Amino acid sequence: MSRSFPSDFLWGAATAAHQVEGNNLNSDWWRLEQLAADYGVQPSGDALDSYHRYGEDMRLLAEAGYNAYRFSIEWSRIEPLPGVFSRAELAHYRRMIDTAVSLGLTPVVTLHHFSHPLWFEERGAWLAEDSVEAFTRYVEQACSILDGVEWVVTINEPNVLAITHGGQRQVAQGKPYPMNALPDQEIGDRFIEAHRSVAPMIRKLTGAKVGWTVANQALTPTPGNEEKFAEVRYLIEDKYLDVSRDDDFLGVQSYTSQPVDANGIVPHPEHPDNTIMGWAYRPDALGIALRHTKEVVGDVPILVTENGIATADDERRIAYTTVALNDMADAIENGIDIRGYLHWSLLDNFEWGHWEPTFGLIAVDRETFERHPKPSFAWLGKIASDNAL
Ligand code: BGC
Repeated sequence: MSRSFPSDFLWGAATAAHQVEGNNLNSDWWRLEQLAADYGVQPSGDALDSYHRYGEDMRLLAEAGYNAYRFSIEWSRIEPLPGVFSRAELAHYRRMIDTAVSLGLTPVVTLHHFSHPLWFEERGAWLAEDSVEAFTRYVEQACSILDGVEWVVTINEPNVLAITHGGQRQVAQGKPYPMNALPDQEIGDRFIEAHRSVAPMIRKLTGAKVGWTVANQALTPTPGNEEKFAEVRYLIEDKYLDVSRDDDFLGVQSYTSQPVDANGIVPHPEHPDNTIMGWAYRPDALGIALRHTKEVVGDVPILVTENGIATADDERRIAYTTVALNDMADAIENGIDIRGYLHWSLLDNFEWGHWEPTFGLIAVDRETFERHPKPSFAWLGKIASDNAL
């Protein structure tokens, strides 16, 4: 039996600037890659050269039947020095938006996806006194190219960023990098402040729907640990979902599910079914995430802004996504207001220090930059053009 989706449903795939563009020489991540090379961190280098090849990427999407593309604009390119804005880079991202629109793809634009300018890092990153002001100044400039964009994400996964930046903070204090840590509260609060500072401004200057995206862990309690579970889930997730109650939409991002015991999140053991990330194979995670998100944010519309699997086996990608999409269809039938599904990722991209995890619907030859669509790309494109499973 075929299951159809609401009209105007967005079907697309997602990327982030630093993971696909290449040569983001002025970003904190570029530097981190050099500093951490001895610890096995690989460089992004030319990445997939999408900085120059975005037109081809978008054309592939449109021709395969998709109607949306989520991508991010790179702060470190747009503001190479504090208060110095590059008109040429702003124009570059405007061309990306125009290209998407001309191909019939609805652009979903992320303003901050994990990376920031080197100068921002050197001034203490998000803990610097004026970090929110600096981010707001950048976003104000970014608004000048967002005309006609309907969906704007301010910050990608503030809850994950507060964990990774919190870890870096510990290392800077001479402590070991913490495993399975919760978000650093102070840094998390900065993100909330930053989001609240820019959201009304973007809405006013561009008329776009504004929200942020939250990594949903689809946490589950272990028997007898319900209280600990509630505490952990609040700190890692609900605190950030709560913020979205004031927004026009919320981006749900889901990959796997994890249990919580008396000590917190239970590290996932090695298992033959694990994905290349070492995560449990949990195609049901998206359904759990959507139901929980609805409980927290009520009627705020949801976009699935990321969902996917790092695997070398494309049939497994299709199997995983089939379960996730059916659970999403159930969620819609049960009254959850979901407006679109953006698969992570369009391309096999730079997975933050590593090239092995392949999340893409399209493989890329990293010498020639040739794009090689996998069967899952046409498979999901067909669902997109039918608007039905
Ligand atoms: C991030 C992506 C990342 C993906 C897979 C999300 O946390 O937004 O940038 O590649 O998950 O790890």
